[in-house]
Parts: sequence; C-alpha cells; structure tokens
Amino acid sequence: MRRASTLVAAACAAALAGCEARPPSALEAAVMTRVKRLAIRGRGDRNPLPDTPEVVARGREDFSHYCMVCHGLDGQNTGVPFAAAMSPPVPSLASPAVQAYADGQLHRIIVGGVWPSGMPASRGILNDDEIWGIVRYLRHLPPAGSLGEPAVYGGAMPPVPGATSGIPDAGGR
Ligand code: HEC
Repeated sequence: MRRASTLVAAACAAALAGCEARPPSALEAAVMTRVKRLAIRGRGDRNPLPDTPEVVARGREDFSHYCMVCHGLDGQNTGVPFAAAMSPPVPSLASPAVQAYADGQLHRIIVGGVWPSGMPASRGILNDDEIWGIVRYLRHLPPAGSLGEPAVYGGAMPPVPGATSGIPDAGGR
C-alpha cells in the first residue's frame, strides 16, 4: 500500500511536470512514453476477431465514423487542422511508439481514453467488437494521405435546409 502511494505520488509529480508551459525534451518524452506503456494493462488480452480483410474493412469503417475527427481517415492526422495544436498533439497511429502497444493495450486505450489529453473514452459509444475491429485496422493503416481528407474539414458542406445563401440570416425573422 505504501509502495503504491509512493508510486501514485511520483506519477502525479510527473504529470504536473508535464503541465509546464514548455514542450517536453526528447528525453522526457521518451521516459513518459515508456512509463505510459508499462502502466497500460491488457498486454495479454487476445484480439477475439480474426485478422482478415473483412474485419479490417469493418474496423476502417468504424474508425471513419468516430476516430476520424482527430486522427484522420488514415490514422495519420491527414487533413485534421488542429492535430498538432492539441496538447499533447494527436500522434500518428502508424508511429513505432503506438504500434509497439500490444493489441490488448490498444483495446484498453480505446475503451478508457487517455487522461489527461483530448483522447476520449469509447466506453458506451462503441461496442467491444467494434473496438477490436478498429484495433485490427490500426495494424493495417494505409499510406498517409491515401484516403484523402475527412469531408468535415476538406469536403463540401451539405446544404442547410431552407437556406437561400451561404450567409446566415442575422435578422432571424
Ligand atoms: C477528440 C479527439 C480524439 C478522438 C475522437 C480520438 N482520439 Fe485518439 N488521441 C487523441 C489525442 C489528443 C491523443 C494523444 C494522447 C496522448 O498522447 O496522451 C490520442 C492518442 C491515441 C492513441 C495513442 C495513445 C498512446 O498512449 O500513445 C491511440 C491508439 C488512439 N488515440 C486511438 C484512437 C481511436 C481508435 C479512436 C476512435 C475510437 C480515437 N483515438 C479517437 C485524440 C482523439
């Protein structure tokens, strides 16, 4: 118990240090990444879905509904205007640091989100099959940029019903 609270205190101190208004040094970032990876459980959890093109395609579809707003369609932030401005920034999911996680750890990350950061928990939003399918997709990400930009950022906006021009009616009569 004592050991545990010392660990918690150390983790809190590390988290607070991360709040300073300066980017972490390469060494700090590497240490934090390592601490984070060791702390995430689920390493031994097996992906119950087979690694087939159908499962990967479904994972890609689910990813494109929900994760795409921050990670792009390709998991590499293509077209996401604020990806680098988030703190911490949205990482490329094709990066060696993310790919080093075991499937079970990726599953836990998606279920619980990453705190504190902009990465939300998917618990109650996606079901377990959807999450494991997304994990399969993460292992088969396409080349960066090959899927284009998400329509919400790059594509045409759908027309607003009843609008006669692109300019909102300020009078609101
Ligand atoms: C609102 C924006 C947002 C959404 C939506 C989002 N993420 Fe993230 N994601 C982030 C940010 C920001 C990080 C960086 C977190 C960090 O490094 O602490 C991140 C990190 C990750 C990581 C790496 C975590 C790590 O410890 O290195 C994975 C894997 C991931 N996201 C997968 C997903 C998946 C899959 C979805 C959809 C189910 C998703 N994300 C939805 C913003 C988002």
